[in-house]
Amino acid sequence: MKEIKKGRELNNMAKTADSSAEMQPKHVSDSKIEQLQPVFKAHLNDQDRLFGGQLVAWIDIVAGAVARRHCRRNVTTAEIDSLQFKAPVYAGNVVVLYGRLTYVGHTSMEVRVDSYVEALNGDRKLVNTAYLVLVALDENGKPTPVPRLICETDEETTEWAAGEKRRELRKKRREESF
Ligand SMILES: CC(C)(COP(=O)(O)OP(=O)(O)OC[C@H]1O[C@@H](n2cnc3c(N)ncnc32)[C@H](O)[C@@H]1OP(=O)(O)O)[C@@H](O)C(=O)NCCC(=O)NCCS
Repeated sequence: MKEIKKGRELNNMAKTADSSAEMQPKHVSDSKIEQLQPVFKAHLNDQDRLFGGQLVAWIDIVAGAVARRHCRRNVTTAEIDSLQFKAPVYAGNVVVLYGRLTYVGHTSMEVRVDSYVEALNGDRKLVNTAYLVLVALDENGKPTPVPRLICETDEETTEWAAGEKRRELRKKRREESF
C-alpha cells in the first residue's frame, strides 16, 4: 500500500514537472514556420487564378502548426481577420507561407501568416497577410492556458503591442456584434 502511494506521488511529481516545463515561456523563433506550396491547376478558380479559399486553407494549416508548436496542445481556430489579398497567384507559382506568433493571451494565441510568391531566383512578392486567433484545448476540448511569449526583436515587440490592440478590437466587436 505504502509502495503504491509512493508510486502515485512520484507519478504526480513527474506530471507537475512535465506540465511546468511545457508552460515555460517560449521565443517567437521556437514556433515559426515556413511552408512551400506549389500551385496546381486544381487550385485555380474560373479566372485561372488561385482560389482564395484554397489560400485561406493553407494559411489556417500553417497558423495551426505554429500555435500547436508553441503550446504543445491541440488547437482550434477561433477567428481569422485582417485577411488581405494583395496580388493574384497563378498556376505554376510557388507560394511560401511564413507563420509566426505575434501575441498570446491566457488560452489564445495570435498568429500572423504572410504569403509570398517566390521566383526561381528567390525574389519574393507579398500576396497576402493574415492574422488568426487560435485557442489551446485540453483533453476535454476546453480552452487551456498557453506558455508566455518572449519577444526579442523590435519587430516582435511592435507586433505584440499591435496584437494587444487587435485583441481589444476583437473583444469589442464580439460584445457589440459588429
Ligand atoms: C474558440 C472556442 C474554443 C472558445 O471557447 P469559449 O468557450 O468561447 O472560450 P472562452 O470564452 O473561455 O475564450 C477562450 C479564449 O478564446 C478567445 N476567443 C473566444 N472566441 C474568440 C473569437 N471569436 N475571436 C478571438 N478570440 C476568441 C477568448 O478571448 C479567450 O482568450 P484568452 O484565454 O486568451 O483570454 C469555441 O468558441 C469554439 O470551439 N469555437 C469553434 C472553433 C472551431 O471549430 N474552429 C474551426 C473552424 S470550422
